[in-house]
Amino acid sequence: MSRYMINGGNRLDGEIKIQGSKNAALPIMAACVLNGAKTILHNVPDIQDVRIMKKILTSIGCKIKTETNTLIIDSSMINSAKVSEQLVSRMRSSIMLMGALVAKLKHAHFSYPGGCDIGLRPIDIHLKALKQLGANITEEHGYIIVDGKDLHAADIVLNYPSVGATENIILASVMTKGVTSIANAAKEPEIIDLQNFLNSLGARVYGAGSNTVYVEGVDRLCEGEYTIMADRIAAGTYMCATHICSGKVFLRGCSLENIKSPYYKLIESGLKVKVYADGIQCISAKDIQSIDSIVTLPYPGFPTDLQPLFVAMLCYANGISIINETVFESRYRFTTQLLRMGANIKIEGRTAIIAGVNKLEGATVYAHDLRGGAALTIAALGAQGSSTVEDIHHIRRGYENFIGVLQNVGADIKYIN
Ligand code: UD1
Repeated sequence: MSRYMINGGNRLDGEIKIQGSKNAALPIMAACVLNGAKTILHNVPDIQDVRIMKKILTSIGCKIKTETNTLIIDSSMINSAKVSEQLVSRMRSSIMLMGALVAKLKHAHFSYPGGCDIGLRPIDIHLKALKQLGANITEEHGYIIVDGKDLHAADIVLNYPSVGATENIILASVMTKGVTSIANAAKEPEIIDLQNFLNSLGARVYGAGSNTVYVEGVDRLCEGEYTIMADRIAAGTYMCATHICSGKVFLRGCSLENIKSPYYKLIESGLKVKVYADGIQCISAKDIQSIDSIVTLPYPGFPTDLQPLFVAMLCYANGISIINETVFESRYRFTTQLLRMGANIKIEGRTAIIAGVNKLEGATVYAHDLRGGAALTIAALGAQGSSTVEDIHHIRRGYENFIGVLQNVGADIKYIN
Protein backbone atom coordinates (compact mmCIF):
# COMPACT_ATOMS: atom_id res chain seq x y z
CA MET A 1 0.00 0.00 0.00
CA SER A 2 1.33 3.46 -0.88
CA ARG A 3 1.93 6.01 1.86
CA TYR A 4 3.52 9.39 2.64
CA MET A 5 6.49 9.64 4.99
CA ILE A 6 6.76 13.07 6.56
CA ASN A 7 9.37 14.63 8.82
CA GLY A 8 7.55 17.52 10.43
CA GLY A 9 8.84 20.93 11.41
CA ASN A 10 10.05 22.44 8.14
CA ARG A 11 9.01 26.00 7.35
CA LEU A 12 7.15 26.39 4.02
CA ASP A 13 8.52 29.06 1.72
CA GLY A 14 8.04 29.65 -2.00
CA GLU A 15 5.33 29.49 -4.62
CA ILE A 16 2.50 27.10 -5.43
CA LYS A 17 0.55 27.21 -8.67
CA ILE A 18 -3.04 26.37 -7.82
CA GLN A 19 -4.33 23.42 -9.83
CA GLY A 20 -7.51 23.41 -11.89
CA SER A 21 -10.69 22.74 -9.93
CA LYS A 22 -11.70 19.10 -9.42
CA ASN A 23 -15.31 20.00 -8.74
CA ALA A 24 -15.54 22.13 -11.88
CA ALA A 25 -13.63 19.75 -14.15
CA LEU A 26 -15.78 16.68 -13.41
CA PRO A 27 -19.22 18.07 -14.39
CA ILE A 28 -17.66 19.91 -17.34
CA MET A 29 -16.12 16.66 -18.57
CA ALA A 30 -19.54 15.01 -18.23
CA ALA A 31 -21.03 17.91 -20.21
CA CYS A 32 -18.69 17.11 -23.09
CA VAL A 33 -20.99 14.26 -24.19
CA LEU A 34 -23.66 16.83 -25.09
CA ASN A 35 -22.19 18.41 -28.24
CA GLY A 36 -21.32 15.16 -30.05
CA ALA A 37 -18.17 16.97 -31.18
CA LYS A 38 -14.65 17.93 -30.12
CA THR A 39 -14.06 19.93 -26.93
CA ILE A 40 -10.71 21.17 -25.72
CA LEU A 41 -10.42 21.65 -21.97
CA HIS A 42 -7.42 23.42 -20.43
CA ASN A 43 -6.27 23.47 -16.80
CA VAL A 44 -7.77 20.05 -16.05
CA PRO A 45 -6.09 18.73 -12.88
CA ASP A 46 -4.14 15.50 -13.23
CA ILE A 47 -5.88 13.67 -10.38
CA GLN A 48 -7.41 10.23 -9.86
CA ASP A 49 -11.05 11.40 -10.13
CA VAL A 50 -10.33 12.95 -13.53
CA ARG A 51 -8.66 9.68 -14.64
CA ILE A 52 -11.79 7.77 -13.60
CA MET A 53 -14.04 10.23 -15.47
CA LYS A 54 -11.80 9.77 -18.53
CA LYS A 55 -12.23 6.00 -18.25
CA ILE A 56 -16.00 6.35 -17.95
CA LEU A 57 -16.21 8.66 -20.98
CA THR A 58 -13.98 6.31 -23.00
CA SER A 59 -16.13 3.32 -21.98
CA ILE A 60 -19.21 4.95 -23.56
CA GLY A 61 -17.44 5.77 -26.82
CA CYS A 62 -15.64 9.11 -26.35
CA LYS A 63 -12.12 9.49 -27.72
CA ILE A 64 -9.82 11.42 -25.37
CA LYS A 65 -6.34 12.82 -25.94
CA THR A 66 -4.40 14.11 -22.94
CA GLU A 67 -1.60 16.68 -23.22
CA THR A 68 -0.50 17.50 -19.65
CA ASN A 69 -3.42 19.55 -18.28
CA THR A 70 -5.29 19.76 -21.57
CA LEU A 71 -7.90 17.21 -22.63
CA ILE A 72 -9.31 16.91 -26.12
CA ILE A 73 -12.60 15.05 -25.80
CA ASP A 74 -14.35 13.87 -28.94
CA SER A 75 -17.89 12.70 -28.20
CA SER A 76 -19.01 12.21 -31.81
CA MET A 77 -18.88 8.40 -31.48
CA ILE A 78 -20.79 7.88 -28.23
CA ASN A 79 -22.39 4.46 -28.46
CA SER A 80 -23.52 3.51 -24.97
CA ALA A 81 -25.69 4.95 -22.20
CA LYS A 82 -24.63 2.24 -19.78
CA VAL A 83 -21.93 3.20 -17.30
CA SER A 84 -19.89 0.39 -15.73
CA GLU A 85 -20.82 -0.35 -12.12
CA GLN A 86 -17.16 -0.75 -11.20
CA LEU A 87 -16.31 2.80 -12.36
CA VAL A 88 -19.45 4.45 -10.94
CA SER A 89 -18.77 2.87 -7.55
CA ARG A 90 -15.36 4.60 -7.45
CA MET A 91 -16.60 8.15 -7.90
CA ARG A 92 -19.78 9.95 -6.90
CA SER A 93 -19.42 12.59 -9.62
CA SER A 94 -20.10 9.91 -12.21
CA ILE A 95 -23.76 10.63 -11.35
CA MET A 96 -23.36 13.84 -13.38
CA LEU A 97 -23.32 11.79 -16.52
CA MET A 98 -26.89 10.74 -15.83
CA GLY A 99 -28.29 14.16 -16.76
CA ALA A 100 -25.92 14.52 -19.72
CA LEU A 101 -26.65 11.05 -21.15
CA VAL A 102 -30.39 11.40 -20.73
CA ALA A 103 -30.21 14.72 -22.61
CA LYS A 104 -28.01 13.32 -25.36
CA LEU A 105 -29.17 9.70 -25.82
CA LYS A 106 -32.57 9.88 -24.06
CA HIS A 107 -31.46 6.96 -21.93
CA ALA A 108 -29.08 6.21 -19.04
CA HIS A 109 -28.25 3.03 -17.15
CA PHE A 110 -26.38 3.47 -13.84
CA SER A 111 -25.60 1.81 -10.53
CA TYR A 112 -25.61 3.88 -7.34
CA PRO A 113 -22.50 6.11 -7.20
CA GLY A 114 -19.57 5.78 -4.80
CA GLY A 115 -17.06 8.38 -3.57
CA CYS A 116 -15.76 9.52 -0.19
CA ASP A 117 -17.21 7.83 2.86
CA ILE A 118 -18.34 11.03 4.62
CA GLY A 119 -22.04 10.41 5.03
CA LEU A 120 -25.06 8.74 3.47
CA ARG A 121 -24.97 10.84 0.27
CA PRO A 122 -28.29 9.77 -1.29
CA ILE A 123 -29.32 10.89 -4.78
CA ASP A 124 -33.02 11.40 -4.13
CA ILE A 125 -32.88 15.11 -5.08
CA HIS A 126 -31.32 14.22 -8.47
CA LEU A 127 -33.92 11.52 -9.20
CA LYS A 128 -36.91 13.62 -8.12
CA ALA A 129 -35.82 16.50 -10.36
CA LEU A 130 -35.21 14.22 -13.35
CA LYS A 131 -38.75 12.82 -12.87
CA GLN A 132 -40.10 16.40 -12.86
CA LEU A 133 -38.33 16.89 -16.19
CA GLY A 134 -40.34 13.97 -17.56
CA ALA A 135 -37.81 11.16 -17.14
CA ASN A 136 -39.20 7.74 -16.38
CA ILE A 137 -36.97 6.15 -13.75
CA THR A 138 -37.00 2.51 -12.72
CA GLU A 139 -34.74 0.88 -10.18
CA GLU A 140 -33.86 -2.78 -10.69
CA HIS A 141 -31.37 -4.87 -8.67
CA GLY A 142 -29.35 -1.82 -7.61
CA TYR A 143 -29.42 -0.24 -11.09
CA ILE A 144 -31.13 2.99 -12.03
CA ILE A 145 -32.59 3.01 -15.53
CA VAL A 146 -33.61 6.40 -16.85
CA ASP A 147 -35.79 6.77 -19.92
CA GLY A 148 -35.68 10.35 -21.17
CA LYS A 149 -37.62 10.23 -24.42
CA ASP A 150 -40.40 12.44 -22.98
CA LEU A 151 -38.15 15.08 -21.39
CA HIS A 152 -39.74 18.52 -21.08
CA ALA A 153 -38.96 21.81 -19.35
CA ALA A 154 -40.13 22.19 -15.75
CA ASP A 155 -40.08 24.56 -12.79
CA ILE A 156 -38.08 22.72 -10.15
CA VAL A 157 -37.72 23.74 -6.53
CA LEU A 158 -34.92 21.92 -4.71
CA ASN A 159 -35.57 21.14 -1.05
CA TYR A 160 -31.79 21.51 -0.49
CA PRO A 161 -29.30 23.37 -2.72
CA SER A 162 -27.44 20.20 -3.75
CA VAL A 163 -24.42 20.98 -5.92
CA GLY A 164 -24.58 17.75 -7.91
CA ALA A 165 -28.36 17.86 -8.38
CA THR A 166 -28.21 21.47 -9.64
CA GLU A 167 -25.52 20.45 -12.16
CA ASN A 168 -27.41 17.33 -13.22
CA ILE A 169 -30.62 19.28 -13.87
CA ILE A 170 -28.72 21.87 -15.91
CA LEU A 171 -27.15 19.10 -18.00
CA ALA A 172 -30.44 17.25 -18.46
CA SER A 173 -32.33 20.36 -19.59
CA VAL A 174 -29.75 22.15 -21.71
CA MET A 175 -31.08 20.60 -24.94
CA THR A 176 -34.70 20.18 -23.81
CA LYS A 177 -37.27 22.45 -25.46
CA GLY A 178 -38.59 25.30 -23.28
CA VAL A 179 -37.25 27.07 -20.20
CA THR A 180 -36.46 25.07 -17.09
CA SER A 181 -36.03 26.91 -13.81
CA ILE A 182 -34.19 25.57 -10.76
CA ALA A 183 -35.15 27.43 -7.58
CA ASN A 184 -33.09 27.07 -4.39
CA ALA A 185 -30.21 26.08 -6.68
CA ALA A 186 -26.70 25.59 -5.32
CA LYS A 187 -24.65 28.79 -5.81
CA GLU A 188 -21.15 27.27 -5.82
CA PRO A 189 -18.60 28.94 -8.17
CA GLU A 190 -18.18 25.59 -9.95
CA ILE A 191 -21.80 25.89 -11.13
CA ILE A 192 -20.97 29.27 -12.64
CA ASP A 193 -18.01 27.59 -14.38
CA LEU A 194 -20.34 24.91 -15.77
CA GLN A 195 -22.75 27.62 -16.98
CA ASN A 196 -19.91 29.56 -18.64
CA PHE A 197 -18.61 26.40 -20.30
CA LEU A 198 -22.04 25.36 -21.63
CA ASN A 199 -22.78 28.88 -22.90
CA SER A 200 -19.42 28.86 -24.73
CA LEU A 201 -20.82 25.85 -26.68
CA GLY A 202 -24.02 27.75 -27.51
CA ALA A 203 -26.22 26.82 -24.53
CA ARG A 204 -28.50 29.34 -22.83
CA VAL A 205 -28.03 29.02 -19.09
CA TYR A 206 -28.58 32.05 -16.84
CA GLY A 207 -28.51 32.85 -13.16
CA ALA A 208 -25.81 30.46 -11.89
CA GLY A 209 -24.47 31.82 -8.61
CA SER A 210 -27.92 33.17 -7.65
CA ASN A 211 -30.96 31.47 -6.10
CA THR A 212 -32.56 30.51 -9.40
CA VAL A 213 -30.92 29.09 -12.50
CA TYR A 214 -32.76 29.23 -15.84
CA VAL A 215 -31.99 26.89 -18.71
CA GLU A 216 -33.47 27.63 -22.09
CA GLY A 217 -33.17 24.49 -24.21
CA VAL A 218 -31.29 24.74 -27.51
CA ASP A 219 -31.34 22.26 -30.41
CA ARG A 220 -27.65 21.55 -30.45
CA LEU A 221 -24.31 22.52 -28.97
CA CYS A 222 -21.15 23.17 -30.97
CA GLU A 223 -17.43 22.43 -30.58
CA GLY A 224 -15.59 24.40 -27.95
CA GLU A 225 -12.47 25.29 -25.99
CA TYR A 226 -12.53 26.24 -22.32
CA THR A 227 -10.20 26.78 -19.35
CA ILE A 228 -11.28 25.28 -16.01
CA MET A 229 -11.28 27.63 -12.99
CA ALA A 230 -8.71 27.35 -10.17
CA ASP A 231 -9.41 24.93 -7.32
CA ARG A 232 -10.58 26.94 -4.29
CA ILE A 233 -10.34 23.90 -1.98
CA ALA A 234 -6.72 23.21 -2.98
CA ALA A 235 -6.01 26.92 -2.37
CA GLY A 236 -7.57 26.72 1.12
CA THR A 237 -5.57 23.56 1.83
CA TYR A 238 -2.26 25.27 1.05
CA MET A 239 -3.26 28.36 3.06
CA CYS A 240 -3.85 26.18 6.14
CA ALA A 241 -0.58 24.30 5.51
CA THR A 242 1.30 27.61 5.27
CA HIS A 243 -0.14 28.74 8.59
CA ILE A 244 0.69 25.44 10.33
CA CYS A 245 4.28 25.55 9.02
CA SER A 246 5.00 29.22 9.91
CA GLY A 247 5.36 29.81 6.21
CA LYS A 248 5.36 32.44 3.52
CA VAL A 249 3.84 31.09 0.32
CA PHE A 250 2.60 32.75 -2.86
CA LEU A 251 -0.45 30.99 -4.34
CA ARG A 252 -0.33 31.67 -8.08
CA GLY A 253 -3.65 31.75 -9.90
CA CYS A 254 -5.67 31.99 -6.69
CA SER A 255 -8.23 34.76 -6.20
CA LEU A 256 -10.00 35.54 -2.93
CA GLU A 257 -13.29 36.01 -4.76
CA ASN A 258 -14.40 32.37 -4.34
CA ILE A 259 -12.98 31.77 -0.86
CA LYS A 260 -14.23 34.79 1.08
CA SER A 261 -15.73 32.83 3.95
CA PRO A 262 -12.60 30.69 4.71
CA TYR A 263 -10.43 33.75 4.01
CA TYR A 264 -12.11 35.75 6.81
CA LYS A 265 -11.63 32.80 9.17
CA LEU A 266 -7.95 32.53 8.22
CA ILE A 267 -7.51 36.25 8.93
CA GLU A 268 -9.19 35.68 12.31
CA SER A 269 -6.63 32.93 12.97
CA GLY A 270 -3.78 35.36 12.29
CA LEU A 271 -2.74 34.51 8.72
CA LYS A 272 -1.71 37.60 6.73
CA VAL A 273 -2.84 37.71 3.12
CA LYS A 274 -1.74 40.16 0.42
CA VAL A 275 -3.64 40.23 -2.85
CA TYR A 276 -1.84 40.62 -6.21
CA ALA A 277 -3.12 40.51 -9.78
CA ASP A 278 -1.75 37.01 -10.37
CA GLY A 279 -2.29 35.42 -6.95
CA ILE A 280 -2.11 35.90 -3.21
CA GLN A 281 0.75 35.93 -0.74
CA CYS A 282 0.13 34.14 2.57
CA ILE A 283 2.31 34.90 5.55
CA SER A 284 1.86 33.06 8.80
CA ALA A 285 1.81 34.91 12.11
CA LYS A 286 3.99 33.67 14.97
CA ASP A 287 0.96 32.06 16.63
CA ILE A 288 -2.26 30.59 15.27
CA GLN A 289 -5.32 32.06 17.00
CA SER A 290 -8.36 29.90 17.77
CA ILE A 291 -11.65 30.57 15.94
CA ASP A 292 -14.86 30.91 17.98
CA SER A 293 -17.23 29.45 15.49
CA ILE A 294 -17.16 27.91 12.04
CA VAL A 295 -20.38 26.55 10.56
CA THR A 296 -20.16 24.64 7.29
CA LEU A 297 -22.91 25.64 4.86
CA PRO A 298 -23.70 25.68 1.15
CA TYR A 299 -21.89 28.47 -0.73
CA PRO A 300 -21.34 31.34 0.05
CA GLY A 301 -21.09 29.77 3.53
CA PHE A 302 -17.97 28.05 4.83
CA PRO A 303 -17.18 25.05 2.56
CA THR A 304 -17.50 21.63 4.17
CA ASP A 305 -14.53 20.47 2.07
CA LEU A 306 -12.23 22.81 4.02
CA GLN A 307 -13.54 21.79 7.44
CA PRO A 308 -10.95 18.99 7.96
CA LEU A 309 -8.08 21.26 6.89
CA PHE A 310 -9.19 23.92 9.40
CA VAL A 311 -9.50 21.28 12.14
CA ALA A 312 -5.87 20.27 11.44
CA MET A 313 -4.75 23.90 11.59
CA LEU A 314 -6.75 24.70 14.74
CA CYS A 315 -5.08 21.81 16.59
CA TYR A 316 -2.08 24.16 16.69
CA ALA A 317 -4.05 27.25 17.80
CA ASN A 318 -3.93 29.21 21.06
CA GLY A 319 -7.26 28.41 22.71
CA ILE A 320 -10.46 26.57 21.89
CA SER A 321 -12.16 26.51 18.49
CA ILE A 322 -15.64 25.24 17.70
CA ILE A 323 -16.80 23.85 14.36
CA ASN A 324 -20.32 22.83 13.33
CA GLU A 325 -20.60 20.50 10.34
CA THR A 326 -24.06 20.86 8.80
CA VAL A 327 -23.50 19.39 5.32
CA PHE A 328 -22.16 15.84 5.77
CA GLU A 329 -23.01 13.86 8.89
CA SER A 330 -19.86 11.68 9.04
CA ARG A 331 -17.17 14.17 8.28
CA TYR A 332 -15.18 13.89 11.52
CA ARG A 333 -13.75 10.37 11.08
CA PHE A 334 -10.28 11.78 10.40
CA THR A 335 -10.20 13.39 13.87
CA THR A 336 -9.59 9.96 15.52
CA GLN A 337 -6.31 9.91 13.59
CA LEU A 338 -5.37 13.42 14.79
CA LEU A 339 -5.82 12.14 18.36
CA ARG A 340 -3.00 9.67 17.66
CA MET A 341 -0.79 12.69 17.04
CA GLY A 342 -1.72 14.20 20.39
CA ALA A 343 -4.56 16.51 19.31
CA ASN A 344 -7.26 17.44 21.80
CA ILE A 345 -10.55 17.19 19.91
CA LYS A 346 -14.00 16.31 21.24
CA ILE A 347 -16.83 15.43 18.87
CA GLU A 348 -20.38 15.96 20.09
CA GLY A 349 -22.82 15.12 17.31
CA ARG A 350 -22.09 17.55 14.52
CA THR A 351 -19.88 19.77 16.67
CA ALA A 352 -16.10 19.53 17.00
CA ILE A 353 -14.43 21.23 19.96
CA ILE A 354 -10.74 21.65 19.34
CA ALA A 355 -8.45 22.69 22.17
CA GLY A 356 -5.16 23.83 20.67
CA VAL A 357 -2.06 22.05 21.92
CA ASN A 358 1.52 23.26 21.94
CA LYS A 359 2.68 20.62 19.54
CA LEU A 360 1.54 17.47 17.75
CA GLU A 361 3.78 14.39 17.68
CA GLY A 362 4.49 12.34 14.56
CA ALA A 363 2.45 9.12 14.28
CA THR A 364 1.16 6.56 11.80
CA VAL A 365 -2.28 7.67 10.65
CA TYR A 366 -4.83 6.37 8.13
CA ALA A 367 -6.68 8.46 5.56
CA HIS A 368 -10.39 7.55 5.28
CA ASP A 369 -11.38 10.12 2.69
CA LEU A 370 -9.93 12.81 0.44
CA ARG A 371 -10.04 15.99 2.56
CA GLY A 372 -9.58 14.14 5.85
CA GLY A 373 -6.43 12.56 4.38
CA ALA A 374 -5.11 15.94 3.25
CA ALA A 375 -5.80 17.28 6.76
CA LEU A 376 -3.69 14.50 8.32
CA THR A 377 -0.86 15.30 5.90
CA ILE A 378 -0.74 19.01 6.71
CA ALA A 379 -1.04 18.25 10.43
CA ALA A 380 2.00 15.95 10.08
CA LEU A 381 3.95 18.74 8.32
CA GLY A 382 3.82 20.75 11.54
CA ALA A 383 4.29 17.83 13.95
CA GLN A 384 7.45 16.97 15.86
CA GLY A 385 9.16 13.87 14.47
CA SER A 386 8.13 11.62 11.64
CA SER A 387 4.67 10.53 10.52
CA THR A 388 3.33 8.04 8.04
CA VAL A 389 0.04 8.72 6.27
CA GLU A 390 -1.42 5.43 5.01
CA ASP A 391 -4.15 4.85 2.39
CA ILE A 392 -3.18 7.92 0.40
CA HIS A 393 -5.17 6.79 -2.65
CA HIS A 394 -7.98 8.87 -1.12
CA ILE A 395 -5.80 12.01 -1.25
CA ARG A 396 -4.69 11.35 -4.82
CA ARG A 397 -8.34 11.57 -5.91
CA GLY A 398 -8.23 15.36 -5.59
CA TYR A 399 -4.72 16.83 -5.26
CA GLU A 400 -2.44 17.12 -8.26
CA ASN A 401 1.18 16.18 -7.45
CA PHE A 402 0.49 16.80 -3.74
CA ILE A 403 3.93 15.82 -2.47
CA GLY A 404 5.79 17.51 -5.36
CA VAL A 405 3.96 20.76 -4.60
CA LEU A 406 4.75 20.51 -0.87
CA GLN A 407 8.39 19.48 -1.45
CA ASN A 408 8.86 22.53 -3.70
CA VAL A 409 8.01 24.84 -0.83
CA GLY A 410 10.31 23.04 1.59
CA ALA A 411 8.29 20.20 3.13
CA ASP A 412 10.12 16.99 4.02
CA ILE A 413 7.62 14.54 2.55
CA LYS A 414 8.12 11.53 0.33
CA TYR A 415 6.05 8.90 -1.34
CA ILE A 416 6.65 5.23 -0.47
CA ASN A 417 5.08 2.51 -2.57
C1 UD1 B 1 -20.28 18.44 -4.07
C2 UD1 B 1 -18.78 18.42 -4.13
C3 UD1 B 1 -18.20 18.05 -2.77
C4 UD1 B 1 -18.74 18.98 -1.70
C5 UD1 B 1 -20.27 19.04 -1.74
C6 UD1 B 1 -20.85 20.08 -0.80
C7 UD1 B 1 -18.34 17.81 -6.41
C8 UD1 B 1 -17.78 16.82 -7.35
N1 UD1 B 1 -18.36 17.46 -5.12
O1 UD1 B 1 -20.71 17.12 -3.75
O2 UD1 B 1 -16.79 18.15 -2.85
O3 UD1 B 1 -18.36 18.49 -0.43
O4 UD1 B 1 -20.71 19.38 -3.07
O5 UD1 B 1 -20.29 21.31 -1.04
O6 UD1 B 1 -18.70 18.91 -6.79
N2 UD1 B 1 -28.02 15.21 -0.62
C9 UD1 B 1 -29.18 14.49 -0.47
N3 UD1 B 1 -29.80 14.01 -1.59
C10 UD1 B 1 -29.30 14.24 -2.85
C11 UD1 B 1 -28.11 15.00 -2.98
C12 UD1 B 1 -27.49 15.47 -1.84
O7 UD1 B 1 -29.66 14.26 0.65
O8 UD1 B 1 -29.92 13.79 -3.83
C13 UD1 B 1 -27.33 15.70 0.60
C14 UD1 B 1 -25.95 15.04 0.76
O9 UD1 B 1 -26.05 13.79 1.38
C15 UD1 B 1 -25.22 16.08 1.59
C16 UD1 B 1 -25.78 17.40 1.07
O10 UD1 B 1 -27.03 17.07 0.43
O11 UD1 B 1 -25.55 15.92 2.94
C17 UD1 B 1 -24.88 18.12 0.09
O12 UD1 B 1 -24.67 17.31 -1.03
P1 UD1 B 1 -24.38 17.91 -2.49
O13 UD1 B 1 -24.44 19.39 -2.47
O14 UD1 B 1 -25.24 17.18 -3.45
O15 UD1 B 1 -22.87 17.45 -2.69
P2 UD1 B 1 -22.23 16.71 -3.93
O16 UD1 B 1 -22.75 17.29 -5.20
O17 UD1 B 1 -22.27 15.26 -3.73
